[in-house]
Amino acid sequence: MKDAAPQTIYLSDYQPFGFIVDSVHLTFRLAPTATRVISRIAFRPNPAAQSRDFFLHGEQLSLIDAKLDGAAVSPELTPTGLRLDVPDAPFVFETEVEISPETNTALEGLYMSNGMYCTQCEAEGFRKITYYPDRPDVMSVFTVRIEGDLPVLLSNGNPVAQGDGWAEWHDPWPKPAYLFALVGGELLNHPDTFTTKSGKPVELNIWVRPGDEDKCAFGMEALKKSMKWDEDVYGREYDLDIFNIVAVDDFNMGAMENKGLNIFNSSCVLASPDTSTDMNFERIEAIIAHEYFHNWTGNRITCRDWFQLCLKEGLTVFRDSQFTADMRSAPVKRISDVIQLRARQFREDNGPLAHPVRPESFVEINNFYTATVYEKGAELIGMLKTLVGDEAYENALNLYFDRHDGDAATIEDWLQVFEDATGRDLSQFKRWYSQAGTPRLSVSEEYADGTYTLTFRQSTPPTPSQPVKDPRVIPIAVGLLNPNGDEVVPTTVLEMTEAEQSFAFDGLAVRPVPSILRGFSAPVILQRDTTNEERAFLLAHDTDPFNKWESGRALARDGLLHMIRDSAAPDMAYLEALTAVVRDDAQDPAFRALAMGLPSQDDLAQALVDLGEIPDPQAIWQALETLRQATAQHMQDLLPRIYAQYQVDAPFQPDAEQSGARALANAALALLSRLDGGAQAQKQYDAADNMTQQLAAFGCLLSAGKGQAATKAFYERWKHDRLVIDKWFTMQIVQADPDQAADVTAALTQHPDFTMKNPNRFRATLGALAMSPAGFHHASGKGYALLADWLIQLDPLNPQTTARMCSAFETWRRYDADRQALIATQLDRILEIDTLSRDTREMVERIRK
Ligand code: ARG
Ligand code: ZN
Repeated sequence: MKDAAPQTIYLSDYQPFGFIVDSVHLTFRLAPTATRVISRIAFRPNPAAQSRDFFLHGEQLSLIDAKLDGAAVSPELTPTGLRLDVPDAPFVFETEVEISPETNTALEGLYMSNGMYCTQCEAEGFRKITYYPDRPDVMSVFTVRIEGDLPVLLSNGNPVAQGDGWAEWHDPWPKPAYLFALVGGELLNHPDTFTTKSGKPVELNIWVRPGDEDKCAFGMEALKKSMKWDEDVYGREYDLDIFNIVAVDDFNMGAMENKGLNIFNSSCVLASPDTSTDMNFERIEAIIAHEYFHNWTGNRITCRDWFQLCLKEGLTVFRDSQFTADMRSAPVKRISDVIQLRARQFREDNGPLAHPVRPESFVEINNFYTATVYEKGAELIGMLKTLVGDEAYENALNLYFDRHDGDAATIEDWLQVFEDATGRDLSQFKRWYSQAGTPRLSVSEEYADGTYTLTFRQSTPPTPSQPVKDPRVIPIAVGLLNPNGDEVVPTTVLEMTEAEQSFAFDGLAVRPVPSILRGFSAPVILQRDTTNEERAFLLAHDTDPFNKWESGRALARDGLLHMIRDSAAPDMAYLEALTAVVRDDAQDPAFRALAMGLPSQDDLAQALVDLGEIPDPQAIWQALETLRQATAQHMQDLLPRIYAQYQVDAPFQPDAEQSGARALANAALALLSRLDGGAQAQKQYDAADNMTQQLAAFGCLLSAGKGQAATKAFYERWKHDRLVIDKWFTMQIVQADPDQAADVTAALTQHPDFTMKNPNRFRATLGALAMSPAGFHHASGKGYALLADWLIQLDPLNPQTTARMCSAFETWRRYDADRQALIATQLDRILEIDTLSRDTREMVERIRK
């Protein structure tokens, strides 16, 4: 069936549902192409609602039977649901529908993955399971019976009873339908237990396909750490007798926080040293924490409507970042988060898909699970905490949990809690939720008679449908250093509220060196003219680890821009300053590895746009290559020492310490490979006993043009392991010469292991091309054509993943007229398809504008 004509939904149109749902009873009779879902739902009129329109969402359902208070009825069926005249009193509505999980390739609703039944209901997937008011402000208590010839049958809440071929579950916590989940399959569990701080035992399980049992231990430890951390830091206990996690191979996103039954993309939970890199381990730990933390921020307190998505996602990302900072290194986590924020959110905020953290309209909500809602949403929480202080933040959060437990809440509720807990007026802060775009913060300095004055100006470029922006509250954390390196003014938070504002510091005997926006205290682009000497000075002396790193990053960026714009040679000041950091064994190896990183091709392209230039992807790539080569040469005496010194001899542990050492050694290896043609990388590849070492070496070999043997060997060694083979696909593409990246990708789509039905594999291949700007933006247009070909093929099967990957084109207006024309051709080709999904059409139309 074709989608109904797409409708735009507006925040301002919110109306409560006309009925309250007192209870939901569901029976599932599982069968691959003919699953029956029998529902019995108790409704009563909602006194708070204006309308009594009894409309239930339902899509792709075959209605078998409907009853109102036991009597057969014939509801009016529409393309998006059903409508019925109902009494102005409590009533029970029953339906039986048939659905086909096996043919559900969209991976939304009830579907099958490798013979296993599973669900994904957020945001609006439940309507593909049965007729229901599928909106987050309708919360109810669910009882679920599952019938199916499978050993493991799971749903939300606590198990009630089970027998051969059936199981019953009851979830005592009222929840919206998007948190419903069901799993059925031949699964094995990795069990454990956790005792909450009030002494309640909880049964824990990670359920996986046979063969994956040995990849669960790390995830289980991460889960227990998360449960403990949420008790210790936020005072939040778990609230059911059991907590289940299930790994699924075919999944559109990372993971899902269904009440008591989290479902994970297997790439976000399965881990072993042989098959997972240090980065995989860290990410898995963070995602397990994220989904677990949703139990309070998302499930116990949910969202009134999907415009409030950041209420749960921004806060939960913020909480998982705090968790990772506590488990590992706080500075390393902050720097990594900012790198990601710039790569994904700034890119979004500065292009045609820019939208506020709380959007005001959408066509397809799945298109708004974005870096802006998640990552910028988390930055807003961080700014609030900085503005009110740690203690007030804690009080406000306690008030939030007390006041709104069981609610479907809004951003207004959230801010009200902070106002009540602190007495502050947050009306200006609210602009962060309603205004899209990344503010530019420029700064000028003055020093006279012992007084040092910083003057800031903020402005935000226009974004789609928001031509004019009002000034926002910006917390600017500043410290001042003396020229000898002593800190004369420790970190102070300046609260900027005007478009232009000055802050003075008295009693300074000499002109200080400012360290501005410490800890990246606001998601803005700082524009400040300064000297190489000052950047190098801060890289050496700043007491704030983020700004220390940032100074090195700015030095690298300025030098690269100079190389790109003026064909300058690599900047000696940068090479000297970086060498000093890398050499300094007193500094954290993880920090030094981060310092060796360079701005991304995308960051540089945006920086060029901000300078009024048209970026040339090839020139950017070339400048990065030249700088890396120059760095390798500059450090040629140091690299072998660093490489040898940071080899880890102890048994593999994916902890902060070991992974920091490996990151530094592998950063050294990447440079060494430019000097020795990959000889050391080949040795490491051959000797590697963990994936971090093996994959790093594989990348170096490919980049040195010596990857042929390793490509074969890697495949032979890992062809049985889908998650490792994803890495094999990606690595060949991201390390390819930009002239060949599209051809390498095209060839890999013909590999027998390529399938577009598995989102991980599709992303590992086409997504990898999209992430390689010089290859994707090849002047021939072959990268664009290839991606468009595959998006067109994937769309009928999986609109969500297709729509998401359209963002590869979001930067197109940056480029020259030829590239723009090539991209426009592809976008128009996609738009011409009249059966195009609502998801993809919305994305491409927004981009094409
Ligand atoms: N709530 C999930 C998380 O962030 C994301 C699920 C989104 N899924 C979707 N199809 N939009 O943890
Ligand atoms: Zn989330």
